[in-house]
Amino acid sequence: MRRPIIAGNWKMYLTLSGALDLVKDLKERLKGIADRDIVVIPPFTYLHSCHKVLEGSNINIGAQDMHWEKEGAFTGEVSPFMLTDCGCKFCVIGHSERRAYFHETDEMVNKKIKSALIYGIIPICCIGETLEQREADQTFDVIEGQVRGGFAGLTSGQMGRVIIAYEPVWAIGTGRTATPEQANEVHAFIRGNLAGLFDTELANNVRIQYGGSVKPENCDDLMSQPDIDGALVGGASLKADSFARIVGFK
Ligand code: 13P
Repeated sequence: MRRPIIAGNWKMYLTLSGALDLVKDLKERLKGIADRDIVVIPPFTYLHSCHKVLEGSNINIGAQDMHWEKEGAFTGEVSPFMLTDCGCKFCVIGHSERRAYFHETDEMVNKKIKSALIYGIIPICCIGETLEQREADQTFDVIEGQVRGGFAGLTSGQMGRVIIAYEPVWAIGTGRTATPEQANEVHAFIRGNLAGLFDTELANNVRIQYGGSVKPENCDDLMSQPDIDGALVGGASLKADSFARIVGFK
């Protein structure tokens, strides 16, 4: 059985005091939950303060991106070592917004994943097709390319620690969700790819989240699909009531 994992990617939203109010509220609301992993992913500048509030709770902290080097002259970047120092256990890597606006490539994603694993950070690697690619029937080619490129050179042992988030770009922030069947079809395809590149056992064990307009109204149907193991939530993770409802999916 794959343990479900629900993560809230706050993107570039909230103030420090709003972030602290949100984690305090979530800590209280979610305290009884032990059968699934819960992660909040604040902007870098709030990581340490949020970690202090959540220390010892069942809610983990993740970052939205990282550099692959431990340290160096890389103005503006944050290293995996710095993230662990702030209490981060997870890091989103290769989010479509980083790929689209900051020119991140599969090669960079691959370097970041390898580095995260060295520092004991669990990478949440995002993959997904654009609307143009879906309409041109390129979804499976795009996904296969991202899987091959992003996970190149990993051993099965390393890949077993990676979480994949399938986030169709056309469903992010648009209110347009993939249907549960559409999402599951791609998740199953990803698993098939992993079976070919690694082995069947690994493919059956890797957790694959769905992301893209996940809301309280659609989370139960999405999460009921056999190959969907959780959600990477954007907008609905900024409010305690909606995120808590999604974490508690039935
Ligand atoms: P929304 O839930 O706002 O569509 O964002 C999804 C996402 O990009 C999470 O990483």
